[in-house]
Amino acid sequence: MKKVGILTGGGDAPGLNAVIRGVVIRLAKETGSEYCCIGFVDGWAGLRDDVTLPLEPGKVDQILHEGGTILGTSRTNLYKKPEDVEKAVAVYHKLELDALVAIGGDDTLEIGYYLFRDHSLKVIGVPKTIDNDVLGTDFTFGFWSSVEQATKAIDALRVTTMSHHRVMVVECMGRHAGWITAYAGLASEADYIAVPEKPVHIAEIAREVKHARSLGKLHSIVVVAEGASIAGIEVKPRVVKDRNGHWVLSEKVERDTFGNVVMKPGEVGEAVASELEKLTGFETRVIALGHLQRGGAPCAYDRILGTRYGVQAAEAVVSGSFGHMVVLQGLRVETVPMKGMVRETQTEKKRYKLLPDSFMSLAEVFYG
Ligand code: F6P
Repeated sequence: MKKVGILTGGGDAPGLNAVIRGVVIRLAKETGSEYCCIGFVDGWAGLRDDVTLPLEPGKVDQILHEGGTILGTSRTNLYKKPEDVEKAVAVYHKLELDALVAIGGDDTLEIGYYLFRDHSLKVIGVPKTIDNDVLGTDFTFGFWSSVEQATKAIDALRVTTMSHHRVMVVECMGRHAGWITAYAGLASEADYIAVPEKPVHIAEIAREVKHARSLGKLHSIVVVAEGASIAGIEVKPRVVKDRNGHWVLSEKVERDTFGNVVMKPGEVGEAVASELEKLTGFETRVIALGHLQRGGAPCAYDRILGTRYGVQAAEAVVSGSFGHMVVLQGLRVETVPMKGMVRETQTEKKRYKLLPDSFMSLAEVFYG
């Protein structure tokens, strides 16, 4: 009997359970070899501390439609402490694992890649995140559910904004990537969309809002990414100009153990709203959608993408494609090396997939 470990790491995303189910069911149906799966609780912490759950096919029945992860998750950076890596490697060998499926964003995949590279652990990666910023794949599962949540929220906010002839600033998650903001903003007819990939001055947003009023529109929806680069607002630690005069994140911001900037929900939205009210004179309100964007059931697309990823990951286990991750390229789910998709060292700059300029040009077609 071959034994396969499965873990989910980093922020949860709708569709994680679809992947777990896909791996477990597909491996149970493999002919020629018998497989059993075990789950590690709370991501890499579960591997380090040897906290496991049995994952028989019966345990993954009826979880496809559920958000979150039945395994639990955490943001555990094993590589911060050499002893944590040693413990995790020892548990892997003690349990006599034949493979380990690591489902997560760039941080989780990075650790999986290091364990494969440095300790020959048989890791297969599966890219997850609502942020959709993992290199090598067109979409991560979780992204479309998040866009759906944000779009519905903005649709609901529009009526109250219209009734009061206000400006509503809606802040979306996504860290340094503007995917959720741009897609939800475009889907909900936002009057302005501000993303990290396209630095802007607050005066420009105010100009657009005033222009819309001059055309007779009595309310405005401004969608901003939590990591948006907006000059002229007071977000304490955030944006500074670099040597070339480009707006970049300040070095002084708070970072987590993976080096990610810790973004406080509402920080940017509040700053935008307060400055916009001053510049336009229009009554302005703000809402940060925050973790609502990770909540709820996965949309059908994410259930299917998660299922395809899970089945492909199981097939990668069977074919021995270790050190690889499953990705969506066009309409096809493929298996590609993790090398090159994540950092080689944790001091290296992170590698992300960012929103292309063409998408923002599309959004601008619809500005006033
Ligand atoms: O990476 C997913 C994400 O939801 C980001 O968009 C957000 O900045 C971050 O996680 C929030 O993390 P936490 O759940 O740890 O507050």
